[in-house]
Amino acid sequence: MKKKILSGMRPTGKLHLGHLVGALENWVKLQDQYECLFMVADWHAFMSEYADPKLLRENIIENVVDWMACGIDPERSTIFIQSHVKEHLELYLIFSTITPLGLLERCPTYKEQLREVKNRDLSTYGFLGYPVLQAADILIYKADAVPVGEDQLPHLELTRQIARKFNRLYKKDIFPDAKALLTKETRLLGLDGRKMSKGYNNFIALSDQPEIIRKKVQNMFTDPSRIKVTDPGHPEECNVCNYYAVFASETKKEIDQLCHKAKIGCADCKKKLAGILVGLLIPIQEKRNSLLKDKGKIEDLLAQGEKKAALIAQKTIQEVKDLINL
Ligand code: TRP
Ligand code: SF4
Repeated sequence: MKKKILSGMRPTGKLHLGHLVGALENWVKLQDQYECLFMVADWHAFMSEYADPKLLRENIIENVVDWMACGIDPERSTIFIQSHVKEHLELYLIFSTITPLGLLERCPTYKEQLREVKNRDLSTYGFLGYPVLQAADILIYKADAVPVGEDQLPHLELTRQIARKFNRLYKKDIFPDAKALLTKETRLLGLDGRKMSKGYNNFIALSDQPEIIRKKVQNMFTDPSRIKVTDPGHPEECNVCNYYAVFASETKKEIDQLCHKAKIGCADCKKKLAGILVGLLIPIQEKRNSLLKDKGKIEDLLAQGEKKAALIAQKTIQEVKDLINL
């Protein structure tokens, strides 16, 4: 029997190169080894976007289309929307009841978000429970492992704590110890060298057209000490070079040499990088466009995914309710 994994993404905007190398490429590979469930975490998106949710529905479909265009295969994997499988919320409530408040208040992601996020009010009851819903997402499918980035480790730890507490309280090993499958750290910074983020608008979206990609790459920050073309560059301090490392590791070696010896100008170096990125995204965009021609089919696929997911989720909820006498 294949092991089961579940992962999710919040539909808060367009998917970009960071999602591709940070998550999607990994998800695509995992499909060979695991039984995979991939979920659009729309409830989690709502928890932060509640004051202005007008783009949520559009983002959901767009994200699913991007997943498929990148190689998530609905024949092999279960793709579904979190809010369409109601059982997540039932388990969430039960978990809320047994989760000590202190665990949530001390959760580092929670504290960080409260500190960093200035343009929304996240000091709500619901947002505090974000990791509890995530635990329900994972455990309702009894997932063995969860592919995530490092930022999500505290949520996985909480998931295991909740699972153990439930198992202990009701004297049955119903929930597994879900392991984090860490995506190998591919550090892709934003175009401006800061963290890649929707808020900074410093990314290349998977759907960006070639002209936009070229323009964005031309505006990338480079080695600040290289002023004239004849100045030798320091590729190790240049974000453009970092992009080569992620997307064209062979070419990176050449660029290192050329840049050190001042044999390539930054404009040419960027032009070449833009060409590589355009080449990478063209097949994805072709697939995207052809999928978008038949939105009805996407909805059918999601409905099928939902059915498969609900079957597992209903079984778990029944087991849980039997244990707690409801
Ligand atoms: N919190 C995750 C993120 O922001 C999204 C998410 C929600 C998730 N539920 C999940 C990830 C369950 C893995 C498993 O990336
Ligand atoms: Fe960066 Fe390329 Fe310019 Fe070197 S030549 S500083 S790697 S953009």
